[in-house]
Amino acid sequence: MDSKCFDLSGRVALVTGASSGFGEHFTRVLAAAGARVVAGARREDRLHRLVDDIAAAGGAALAVAMDVTDAASVAAAFAAAEAKFGTVDLLVNNAGVAAPGTLHKTAEADWDWVVDTNLKGAWLVAAEAARRMLAARRGGAIVNIASVLGMATSRGHGVYSATKAGVIQLTKHMALELAGKNIRVNAICPGYFKTEMNDEYFDSAAGQAYIAATPGGRLGRMEEMDGPLLLLASDAGSFINGALLPVDGGHLVMSI
Ligand SMILES: NC(=O)c1ccc[n+]([C@@H]2O[C@H](COP(=O)([O-])OP(=O)(O)OC[C@H]3O[C@@H](n4cnc5c(N)ncnc54)[C@H](OP(=O)(O)O)[C@@H]3O)[C@@H](O)[C@H]2O)c1
Repeated sequence: MDSKCFDLSGRVALVTGASSGFGEHFTRVLAAAGARVVAGARREDRLHRLVDDIAAAGGAALAVAMDVTDAASVAAAFAAAEAKFGTVDLLVNNAGVAAPGTLHKTAEADWDWVVDTNLKGAWLVAAEAARRMLAARRGGAIVNIASVLGMATSRGHGVYSATKAGVIQLTKHMALELAGKNIRVNAICPGYFKTEMNDEYFDSAAGQAYIAATPGGRLGRMEEMDGPLLLLASDAGSFINGALLPVDGGHLVMSI
């Protein structure tokens, strides 16, 4: 086996939702693997701190303000990325939000917010990336960040689950449509990791009891996403397409 097959030298990666949580971590991991990285999100101050850190470590990075729900903002971000580094040939489609609550009590505004960000946003970003990869005729990889909640149900997460199930179908369809063009589209389905999205819950007694009852008995650690991300992003995963990769400590083998 070629030990360099996880290397991302020469690649241009764009990560959405790079201002916190998984997205910030993924941006650092991709830069450390050799990619030039573009960090996208709305909170630009955080992106600039991240980009400065990566530059200080010897990497190449660009911060771009980006609202994934807005097609013009998405196109502008990709244009800025391309002007700086060339065509984005690796997308980590990660931005997402949650609005817990039972479906019959969900406010229409919350439905719109979660669906627009997690599903429409994921489509807008992936479609923009794919159009540019196709125009450049150089292939590429798209890694969508779905969730175990796209594959199973859990009380109080109906809207979020519906969007993540949508991201899974988006992944399969784009994989099918783009396979002949050397563009792979896969999804990681994380279990629970503590981020700004859920830290209050996992700091509570109820959150700790929930996690203790899972097969792994603990939350995921950020670095446990590195191998799965690099597998799907790099040539190590060159024949993996349309796949869903749970990273959940076995959570999906029980009812979640
Ligand atoms: N943590 C978990 O346990 C878990 C499990 C399964 C899946 N996930 C998924 O992992 C992804 C990252 O979540 P996280 O846990 O890292 O949460 P997080 O720390 O809250 O990060 C969410 C990111 O999404 C960005 N974002 C939200 N709305 C956006 C918009 N309209 N345009 C651009 N960026 C937007 C935020 O940036 P700005 O606010 O600066 O724009 C932020 O960087 C999400 O898709 C989430 O559903 C998380």
